[in-house]
Amino acid sequence: MCSFVENLSMAGNVYGSVFRLTTFGESHGKGIGGIIDGCPAGLIVDFTAIQQDLDRRKPGQSAIVTQRKESDEVQFLSGIFEGKTTGTPIAFLIPNTDQKSQDYSHIKDSYRPSHADYTYDQKYGARDYRGGGRSSARETAARVVAGAIAKQLLGKVQIQAYVSAVGNLKLNIPYHQLDLKNAETNAVRCPDTQTALQMETYIKDIRKQGDTVGGIVSCVIQNVPVGWGEPVFDKLHAELGKAMLSINAVKGFEYGSGFAGAGMKGSEHNDLFETDGTTKTNHSGGVQGGISNGMDIYFNVAFKPVATLIQNQETIDKHGQPTTIMGKGRHDPCVVPRAVPIVEAMAALVLADFYLRNQSAKIR
Ligand SMILES: Cc1cc2nc3c(=O)[nH]c(=O)nc-3n(C[C@H](O)[C@H](O)[C@H](O)COP(=O)(O)O)c2cc1C
Repeated sequence: MCSFVENLSMAGNVYGSVFRLTTFGESHGKGIGGIIDGCPAGLIVDFTAIQQDLDRRKPGQSAIVTQRKESDEVQFLSGIFEGKTTGTPIAFLIPNTDQKSQDYSHIKDSYRPSHADYTYDQKYGARDYRGGGRSSARETAARVVAGAIAKQLLGKVQIQAYVSAVGNLKLNIPYHQLDLKNAETNAVRCPDTQTALQMETYIKDIRKQGDTVGGIVSCVIQNVPVGWGEPVFDKLHAELGKAMLSINAVKGFEYGSGFAGAGMKGSEHNDLFETDGTTKTNHSGGVQGGISNGMDIYFNVAFKPVATLIQNQETIDKHGQPTTIMGKGRHDPCVVPRAVPIVEAMAALVLADFYLRNQSAKIR
């Protein structure tokens, strides 16, 4: 019993059934990294594309994100030979180089409200409090590396995420009326330049106040063939939901018509067919019965205003005594600009897994 329990402790570090990612590491340890198992042999690896996605996630990239300076250069340790995957586990490491652990000594014995300090302490009785330890979003850099490889495996499938809201500043333009590539031309990653400027100004203002603000990342996936997704429990949208909700600070997920669909009549909501099997509308968000139908998959992911404020807040210490706490050091006032490549990476991991699982769906 004892060893069984020991084996289970700190579980939940693996995602995927066939294309499987295990991540390891903490914010202020030696580094973070991962092992990808199940990537087929023969994939030509585009290292530049992997680094580009890491650069889109990394801290210090603009004035509206945390100023921690990490080069986030990934080192591959195995599974790739002469530029191609070998079918063996792909292990990789991203060293941590810019930790300032003294910035966290004040939370050693007390808890940031709405962070993971209290729950980790209560659950494990041991906590690497430096930079949030394993609960830090630094872990998501490993997801971005694996997601970039998954994107390459997916070939023609296009995954594009962008910021569609910062606080109450919302981009109310449907994705097909936007040039999504514009998202990468500004620091916020919003494809509408005017809205992006307003969002940027707002985030700077929030930072000056020592506060934080939430936002929404939207994502569009194109060119997914019909048939990906496994009923009953592993529906495509259910796995996307799990993948998105596993990202730090995510509070909501909706795909297709989402919550607005609940207010519609069936005669308005049904996606009528064209003769080629495509549909005139796409309220289904590209998924029916948990299986892709060939239409665009689109969804929204809501991020909360993150917990660490550069303001005094009331809290408790580990003995339950009231105290006050103020964040120190470098923090994100709004995480959605950096979350865009993380959302894409998790979408790619879900799709790569279903692509490989679908190979055994029927005799071809
Ligand atoms: C890209 C990114 C950056 C983040 N940066 C911070 C940060 O600087 N400060 C902070 O308190 N939380 C930050 N978070 C959120 C925490 O990691 C998260 O809130 C914490 O682990 C608690 O988990 P929960 O909010 O999902 O319950 C960040 C999240 C993401 C996705």
